[in-house]
Amino acid sequence: MTKLAIMGAMEEEIEPLLAYFNKVNIVEFANNKYYEVNYKGLNIVIAYSKIGKVHASLTALTMIEKFSCDTLLFSGVAGAVNPNLKVGDLIIADRLCQHDLDITAFGHPNGYVPGGKVFVETTKNLREVAKKVAVQNNLKVIEGTIATGDQFVHSIERKDFIQNTFKADALEMEGASVAVVCDALNVPFFILRAISDSADMDAGFDFDEFLKSSAKNSADYLIKIVEEL
Ligand code: ADE
Repeated sequence: MTKLAIMGAMEEEIEPLLAYFNKVNIVEFANNKYYEVNYKGLNIVIAYSKIGKVHASLTALTMIEKFSCDTLLFSGVAGAVNPNLKVGDLIIADRLCQHDLDITAFGHPNGYVPGGKVFVETTKNLREVAKKVAVQNNLKVIEGTIATGDQFVHSIERKDFIQNTFKADALEMEGASVAVVCDALNVPFFILRAISDSADMDAGFDFDEFLKSSAKNSADYLIKIVEEL
């Protein structure tokens, strides 16, 4: 590995990561800022994409093609779908899907378009490193399915649809688009989230309340993983 990309979607998701580094070089490109750092001999580029699948795809592709990153890690927050996941808990995606991708009118399953696949799997050996780090640090982490869509989910109906259709454990707004980009370009990638809310009618309130603390949980664990790469 030569160059690592670390992404979040929101400024609050990368702030706790940037706090680990004292010397940062900022490069501006395509309406965004890319933070270059060197950490323990590793070249790292950090950026937040802005919310949603389109912004996340643009940032992931930029980090790979313009900045020549050869491994991508994502850190951020998610809404819980699995009832065992509580605020602050950590989830590693083993696969991701797009819950709002819908051409069912033509007989296709939800989340599928011709030439694509419903679920994109994340890179196994990065998950293995992460699980080893979790054991070493006594962290409770679950591995599961993350569903992505361009919607902040705050209703039981939508959450139930996502749970029933995709057997998702958590949901957010960027992961699957990053997965599609990395999978297409054969770039190993890893998606980590900490729970900020339960995607129910209290989700907006909970998100505002727990965004920062959950983003920090995710970032602190991610840095421990980086140290093992
Ligand atoms: N990220 C964190 N919580 C979320 C929610 N409820 N919906 C979509 N993305 C989220």
